[in-house]
Amino acid sequence: MELVEWNDSLSVGDPLMDAHHRVFFEMIREFSEYQEKDNRDAVRDRIEFLFEYAAMHLSAEEKLMHKVNYPGLAAHKAEHDVFIHELLIIKIDFDKDSSSVSGETVLKIMQDWLVNHIVVSDKHYAPYLQSLQAQFCSLSGFD
Ligand SMILES: [Fe+2]
Repeated sequence: MELVEWNDSLSVGDPLMDAHHRVFFEMIREFSEYQEKDNRDAVRDRIEFLFEYAAMHLSAEEKLMHKVNYPGLAAHKAEHDVFIHELLIIKIDFDKDSSSVSGETVLKIMQDWLVNHIVVSDKHYAPYLQSLQAQFCSLSGFD
């Protein structure tokens, strides 16, 4: 599977969110290596980490959207909830029987999430944040 690399066109205009998103890209690269070597312990650790990291990041993103009164928050949060649910199912299945979850499947879910959610949905809030920043600068007398 060809891995997607981070590039500036994926920026959402918020340094912390961009930093979080970059970690996801790095996780995918690492996961791909472990999965190719069929290192099941490492795959288990990465699934655990992915679940916890995703929960932390998505919650931070929702807090940011709430803070700036982003009008698309409810729909965006619904996408996050679906992703967290998918990860939870993977985690439970892996814990029950690690052979029931293929690394390729996990990799595909992660990759799809990054490409479809970050590129499409997260990019929707980027212009909203940027317009607020521009407003703030002009209101404050800075350009
Ligand atoms: Fe998001």
